[in-house]
Amino acid sequence: MSASDQLSNRFAQSNALFERASRTIPLASQTFSKSHLQWVAGAAPLFLESAAGCHVTDVDGHRYLDYVLGLLPIILGYGDPDVDSAIRDQLDQGITLSLPHRLEMELSERLVRLIPCAEMTRFGKNGSDATTAAVRLARAHTGRDRIAVAGYHGWHDWYIGTTSRHLGVPQAVRDLSVSFPFNDADALVPLLQQGDLAAVVLEPAGATAPAPGFLQRLRELCDHHGAVLVFDEIITGFRIGLGGAQAHYGVTPDLAAFGKAMGNGMPISAIVGRADIMALMEDVFVSGTFGGELLSLAAAIATIDKLERQQIPQRLWHHGDRLRNAANGLAEKRGLSDVITFKGDGWWPRLHLANGPVESATLVSLLRQECTAHGLLLASSFNLCLAHTATDAIFDETVQALDRIYAEVRDALESSDPAGRLRGRPVQPVFSVR
Ligand SMILES: Cc1ncc(COP(=O)(O)O)c(C=O)c1O
Repeated sequence: MSASDQLSNRFAQSNALFERASRTIPLASQTFSKSHLQWVAGAAPLFLESAAGCHVTDVDGHRYLDYVLGLLPIILGYGDPDVDSAIRDQLDQGITLSLPHRLEMELSERLVRLIPCAEMTRFGKNGSDATTAAVRLARAHTGRDRIAVAGYHGWHDWYIGTTSRHLGVPQAVRDLSVSFPFNDADALVPLLQQGDLAAVVLEPAGATAPAPGFLQRLRELCDHHGAVLVFDEIITGFRIGLGGAQAHYGVTPDLAAFGKAMGNGMPISAIVGRADIMALMEDVFVSGTFGGELLSLAAAIATIDKLERQQIPQRLWHHGDRLRNAANGLAEKRGLSDVITFKGDGWWPRLHLANGPVESATLVSLLRQECTAHGLLLASSFNLCLAHTATDAIFDETVQALDRIYAEVRDALESSDPAGRLRGRPVQPVFSVR
């Protein structure tokens, strides 16, 4: 059997499902970042079947150590017993009822206790629900229309219109949002001076930590110019610490959006913030059929309680520091440290690729190809969950796999045709905002 036959055999079920899904599902995926665009299609799994702890199994029966974690909702692990039993218990009592339920308060009170800016809360299903609610509230509060953004804030018009994926967003809407560079408060000054900025919306930390004084300066600028400061804590929330980046860096925004890790995989998000602004929701229309869906509320309460009880954010941070240092040590050993580095604090070590012997699009494809070939599902970062820390064997398995992966990548880079080592179509970036 030829090498390419072996490969199409290895992913036969994935490839067949891809063909079938493509007939009725645009992109054959619900999510850009989970689609075939992100992998060396033809030489990668495209569909998963099941998950447990920190492992996933693809539809062809191959098992991977998962460092994607569904794009970060999983913080405890797949099938966490405490969260799953809370969901099962609630299932017996009903999923979506006809009037509000006690669990709404129970979760709300936890967020108010843990998150500095949270005086009131409202739940949604996606991060985009929460960031869009923040923007509408900020516009209602200030009577202004324009929004400044830094980071990624979801798929809705007001934000996605600022990116290269703005097809379908009216120009009139695009004109109301402007992006500014993270860690450059001076860039905001002329925008704020125009006097029509309703909100400054940013990821308070991410690929890069905020420079000393940056968040504080934004706080002062927003106060001075009457704009609402919104932290998008969809990723930082519950990972950087239970109170989010705002507690960690000691700067309190007016509003903040939380989601992802909040329910260990269940669809739930929250907009939280100052009572006087949040109370505008008595009139401002932020309202959905599933805001009080009970399986997600029960999951979020169980997740947050466990994170707090076992001080899990600190454990994940420590684990991430170890993993980043070990990965960078291996890159050094294989002579790759100029082109492959993990950077950032341990709560979310991010992969940085530099153009070296090949452009970074080829490098990212080579790296992802070798990761899946060696049993790691790894994209742009070490996304961590409690299950990764359960035994040293998981750490060791990761380090041993990375050593072999880096050896293959080094070998490809030293060859006369690195791109020729790709066994499928290269990765196609969705866009780059971070
Ligand atoms: C920082 C940030 N904000 C907002 C969102 C949007 O969240 P969702 O995809 O749940 O709508 C995301 C999603 O990746 C995100 O990373």
